[in-house]
Amino acid sequence: MRLSQLILLLVAGLVWAQTLEDILTAESATLSTLNAWLTSEQLVLSILSNAQGVTLLAPSNNALNQLYNSSLLTQLTVDPNFLTAFLSYHVLSGEFFVSNFLNTQAATVPTFLNQRAYSNVTGGQKIQARSNNGTITFISGNGAQSNVEAYDLNYTSGTLHVIDTVLTIPGSLTDTLVADGLTAALGALRRAGIESVLNLASDVTVFVPTNGAFSAVGSLVDAMTVEQLTAVLDYHVVQGKVLYSQLIAGGTALTAQGATVNFRVMNGSLFVNSARVVAADILVANGVVHVLDGVLNPDNTTATPNPTASSQEPAFNGATTTVAGVPFTSEIVTATSTSVATSPGPTFTPQAALPSSGWECARWLDEVDELMLSHTLEIPHN
Ligand SMILES: *[C@@H]1O[C@H](CO)[C@@H](O)[C@H](O)[C@H]1NC(C)=O
Ligand SMILES: *[C@@H]1O[C@H](CO)[C@@H](O)[C@H](O)[C@H]1NC(C)=O
Ligand SMILES: *[C@@H]1O[C@H](CO)[C@@H](O)[C@H](O)[C@H]1NC(C)=O
Ligand SMILES: *[C@@H]1O[C@H](CO)[C@@H](O)[C@H](O)[C@H]1NC(C)=O
Ligand SMILES: *[C@@H]1O[C@H](CO)[C@@H](O)[C@H](O)[C@H]1NC(C)=O
Ligand SMILES: *[C@@H]1O[C@H](CO)[C@@H](O)[C@H](O)[C@H]1NC(C)=O
Repeated sequence: MRLSQLILLLVAGLVWAQTLEDILTAESATLSTLNAWLTSEQLVLSILSNAQGVTLLAPSNNALNQLYNSSLLTQLTVDPNFLTAFLSYHVLSGEFFVSNFLNTQAATVPTFLNQRAYSNVTGGQKIQARSNNGTITFISGNGAQSNVEAYDLNYTSGTLHVIDTVLTIPGSLTDTLVADGLTAALGALRRAGIESVLNLASDVTVFVPTNGAFSAVGSLVDAMTVEQLTAVLDYHVVQGKVLYSQLIAGGTALTAQGATVNFRVMNGSLFVNSARVVAADILVANGVVHVLDGVLNPDNTTATPNPTASSQEPAFNGATTTVAGVPFTSEIVTATSTSVATSPGPTFTPQAALPSSGWECARWLDEVDELMLSHTLEIPHN
């Protein structure tokens, strides 16, 4: 090849390589507001322009206009650290084209949100991508859904998808339990005095029984000493591992109480011992929550589910409901509105938050798997 031809090729290559600025300018009808926000964000701009292989989930002008007059916008305006965290959460570590998500029911992907004031998830707070009938939706904190409007806009450092709603940074465990009305679990954590330590721990998986599950064993758990109650609650926590449902294909996990829990996938549902997961993968600042229809009993680790029954026998022999109603809720003095969040919260009808075709161990994208494996010490696969 002659030198002049080579130079021509190189020049052509440069012309073809679109920069982020090129895309934001070309798509100004949908991205001009984000473009303006980004000009003042040196840290995020430098990640977006210099890192190799990133994905920007770019909120459209409409998505950002929805924030007008909101307390979120006020916080973004007055708190530069929050703005940086917010924008970092919109950047995925890895180049993910829409085609990477189309054949997975749900994939959990790491983001650049790793500021400790906003996330205690090692390797960056996660976001979940779900595919439904050819469309991709990203699920962030408090069940917020962001739909992809335009996709695979490639540039020098990766790719960009336009989303119709901003992502929500996952809130604390406490805020999430309040927002979702899981007041018995929150009250139990308060009575045992372990609420704040659990909120501050890094990388946790928390199994949270519904209020109905606590009611079903109210006569026993309400009468427990703090020590006994702590043991029961610790049996619901896996520390140091964030077990998104895709990572659970069976096997066991060691809990903070010291005994293990058993995972089973039966008849399209995921079970922890004999309790069914009725809402999976609720992201919180320090890990993930899965909601259960039963309270786990550390003295009954062999409890097994009856997959054909619509509800499970409690794992506590002889337990009954109490006339006093839902246990532990008296510990919660603040109002427990279920509409704290502005975004749609998860619902807790059995299976509702799970893929419509039934719970199934998702096939992982190779890239996601690698990224996740590097952040997860031990994965309880069989
Ligand atoms: C925003 O708030 C201001 C002052 O409270 C009010 O006058 C204005 O109508 C609001 N705008 C929208 C779009 O809600
Ligand atoms: C993360 O942990 C640190 C240290 O325990 C704590 O100061 C910080 O508030 C935690 N962040 C969140 C979002 O809870
Ligand atoms: C799936 O998408 C196609 C094309 O967009 C549409 O015609 C069809 O009604 C959708 N099906 C469901 C179940 O939403
Ligand atoms: C961006 O790159 C991906 C992977 O190479 C490709 O599938 C997609 O079509 C590209 N997008 C555009 C708009 O060309
Ligand atoms: C699975 O559960 C459904 C109800 O949710 C039930 O009708 C069906 O018989 C169950 N199948 C098996 C194999 O247990
Ligand atoms: C263990 O759990 C099963 C339900 O899975 C229940 O029938 C049994 O009574 C429980 N045993 C004890 C000792 O609590």
